[in-house]
Amino acid sequence: MALEDGKEPGITIRLIQNRPLPLRLLQFFLLFLVLGLGVSIISMYTFRYFGIQNVTGVGRSNIFLPCFEAPNDLENWIRPPSNLLHKMNDTELFWRASFVPRIKEYPYRRVPKIAFMFLTKGPLPLAPLWERFFKGHEGLYSIYVHSLPSYAGNYTPSSVFYKRQIPSQVVEWGRMSMCDAERRLLANALLDISNEWFILVSEACIPLHNFSIIYRYISRSRYSFMGSFDEDGPYGRGRYNWNMQPEVTLAQWRKGSQWFEVNRRLAVNIIEDTTYYPKFRDFCSQHVMWMSTTSLRC
Ligand SMILES: *[C@@H]1O[C@H](CO)[C@@H](O)[C@H](O)[C@H]1NC(C)=O
Ligand SMILES: *[C@@H]1O[C@H](CO)[C@@H](O)[C@H](O)[C@H]1NC(C)=O
Repeated sequence: MALEDGKEPGITIRLIQNRPLPLRLLQFFLLFLVLGLGVSIISMYTFRYFGIQNVTGVGRSNIFLPCFEAPNDLENWIRPPSNLLHKMNDTELFWRASFVPRIKEYPYRRVPKIAFMFLTKGPLPLAPLWERFFKGHEGLYSIYVHSLPSYAGNYTPSSVFYKRQIPSQVVEWGRMSMCDAERRLLANALLDISNEWFILVSEACIPLHNFSIIYRYISRSRYSFMGSFDEDGPYGRGRYNWNMQPEVTLAQWRKGSQWFEVNRRLAVNIIEDTTYYPKFRDFCSQHVMWMSTTSLRC
């Protein structure tokens, strides 16, 4: 509706401009024209934004369809979401993120990216270091930040962290909400089809090598990386709960910190899982979930 309201005065002014008008009135109309154009442009972008975000498409006026939606355009599917904010809850997000193409060969030149997923409470004190790390490697990485919902990062538009916060929820370190946050990060990162590798980092992580080396290492590796120790004693096997059988046996029980690097296939496996998730949710109390604030070192 805003589009109509905004455009109308713009059109009328063109018609009556020919007649001699008092200067003040003309100025007034010009102001209106500019305002109208502004509103039109804003609403155009709003609709385009919704067109990308809402693949299923909610009932929209037909007037906008030809201009702003090209459903047959491959570009719509491979372009990363222009805005990381969305209104999907976790159920909807995970479902959407679990879409996987069955044909393995991409019909375009795909440059695989590394998704750096920052699981933080609030500010990123090492942001300047990361800025330097990423500098000059645009197109090979994407960044996602999950912080406490109350924290509004004030990054400048030139920062690599600008507008990279995903819709977040409260995380209690060492509880299931921590796993939820990790899965939420993965799911949001999966929405960009170019992301091929997913790295979970904290605000305390420091890259030990430059970007080129890390990118080359990860892209050439056949493996994903995560901590996994089979340990006797109270902090290892001692934390196993027999209720986790048969899905998780004692022999399969591992300990490790949560920081990981996984490929896209594994990332989808993690967000689609409904077998192990309930077992860990129901039978892993907070001390069992291996994490404490001290594990924030990577
Ligand atoms: C998300 O919304 C759907 C539909 O309203 C609902 O069925 C589902 O339980 C919600 N999921 C969560 C995690 O709130
Ligand atoms: C990254 O580090 C390697 C080894 O230290 C070096 O040879 C290379 O030039 C560096 N790349 C960049 C872009 O700085």
